Amino acid sequence: MRSLTLLGGAVALLATFVVARPAAENTCIVAANGFEAIDDSPAINDALTKCGNGGTIVLPADQYYSIYTPIDFSNCHNCDFQIEGKLIMATSALLSFAKYDRSVFTIANATGVRIRSITGSGVIDGNAYSWYRRTNWSPKQGGYPFVHITDTSSNISVSNLHFKDIQDRVFLLQGNSSDLHFSDLRITADGINGIYASFDNFAFEMGEVSDVSVSNLDIEFNQKNNMGDTRPVGTCFAFDHGTSSVSITNVSCRRAWMGAQVVFGTIIPSVVPTSATSAALIQNITVTNFTFAGSHATGVNSWWNGSKKVIRGVTWEWVTVEEGSPADFDPCYATARSTSYWPSCMKAAAYEVRDLAFRHFRGRVGSPPTDPNWGEVNGFMDVETEFVDWVADA
Ligand SMILES: *[C@@H]1O[C@H](CO)[C@@H](O)[C@H](O)[C@H]1NC(C)=O
Ligand SMILES: *[C@@H]1O[C@H](CO)[C@@H](O)[C@H](O)[C@H]1NC(C)=O
Ligand SMILES: *[C@@H]1O[C@H](CO)[C@@H](O)[C@H](O)[C@H]1NC(C)=O
Ligand SMILES: *[C@@H]1O[C@H](CO)[C@@H](O)[C@H](O)[C@H]1NC(C)=O
Ligand SMILES: *[C@@H]1O[C@H](CO)[C@@H](O)[C@H](O)[C@H]1NC(C)=O
Ligand SMILES: *[C@@H]1O[C@H](CO)[C@@H](O)[C@H](O)[C@H]1NC(C)=O
Ligand SMILES: *[C@@H]1O[C@H](CO)[C@@H](O)[C@H](O)[C@H]1NC(C)=O
Repeated sequence: MRSLTLLGGAVALLATFVVARPAAENTCIVAANGFEAIDDSPAINDALTKCGNGGTIVLPADQYYSIYTPIDFSNCHNCDFQIEGKLIMATSALLSFAKYDRSVFTIANATGVRIRSITGSGVIDGNAYSWYRRTNWSPKQGGYPFVHITDTSSNISVSNLHFKDIQDRVFLLQGNSSDLHFSDLRITADGINGIYASFDNFAFEMGEVSDVSVSNLDIEFNQKNNMGDTRPVGTCFAFDHGTSSVSITNVSCRRAWMGAQVVFGTIIPSVVPTSATSAALIQNITVTNFTFAGSHATGVNSWWNGSKKVIRGVTWEWVTVEEGSPADFDPCYATARSTSYWPSCMKAAAYEVRDLAFRHFRGRVGSPPTDPNWGEVNGFMDVETEFVDWVADA
């Protein structure tokens, strides 16, 4: 075992306080062990067990934590998890997360989880540069969620933190979870591999969730390679089957392939209707004050596998497009991926869409579509849209 120079001497001196020590009544302060090669997750999980029931867990500002195994929030019941220091993912360990349902922060069967930085100094570093470049890379495996909120979790909030260079998915929200809140976050990624597609990196991917609010976020993805190529990659917000009552406000999304879009079929393993004959459904989503620079800002870009799709009440308003297509409706996304997929989809895609609205668009938006059959590719599609007050001012 090597001791590492990553950590400053002051931090290394704290190496003896490996175990969480209770500070005040029901408060656990967790010191990092001080060695990059030693996993800090056991001490953090220990603190969640000791102080998780209504208590506070503090990771102080001067500490660097190495993460080799998941942090399990199932013992957090109305607990306050304060990250002021820096959590650094040991990316070499990431593949072994397959046996833990893949996530790093696992929030399953949990009620009342608050994850935040009070001072704003907290950083969660996915350290994913080498992960983006791994050779054993296979698309459509669904990716690894960093924060996975699932199994009917509720009353979960994450705020005032910086998530940096996260491997594949920053937040995956599913499993009939509800009452989820995200605010004042920065999500950045540098050096994402150019072979990554829109469905390989997500800031937020959600399906079978309700009552989600997101406000005051800056998201920026950067793909860089040796050729100096910096094309947009990844998706800021994808709404899959079963998403309802979502509000997204004051968010910027830059250098992304997709902004905030209905994307049926991205979550793997799939979230699908209970029977193949019932429709997939997305309803009541509002995106307000959204600034986008990338390829596709808003609308629908979905995979297809035969089931009917129903969309009710999705509104994008006060959207500023700095770069990219302002609004799309593509029911047969990823057309080049298979030779039989695209013609089959174009023939059989079935959508019922009500109250899809694109209001108050600004920036490089051109004129809104005027085709009354916008989005309809065959006779099984009934798409009702509204485009209001688009002002191209750049
Ligand atoms: C959540 O609870 C359900 C039902 O008890 C269980 O099947 C599931 O494995 C739990 N999830 C996790 C990640 O522990
Ligand atoms: C939600 O969780 C927070 C702490 O995480 C707790 O303080 C609050 O009381 C919970 N709210 C409800 C309605 O249970
Ligand atoms: C979510 O709820 C729906 C409807 O009650 C149910 O069919 C589905 O199995 C649930 N999914 C999960 C992951 O709990
Ligand atoms: C969005 O930003 C505006 C201006 O800064 C602020 O007044 C408003 O409260 C914010 N909205 C939310 C939901 O935080
Ligand atoms: C969606 O919004 C409509 C109209 O405001 C409302 O009647 C309906 O109850 C909402 N559905 C859900 C699941 O929130
Ligand atoms: C959108 O931004 C404007 C201008 O900053 C602000 O007045 C308004 O409250 C914001 N809307 C929401 C829903 O926060
Ligand atoms: C769509 O895909 C899911 C997951 O593979 C499957 O369960 C479902 O039956 C499919 N629906 C149709 C209509 O093929």
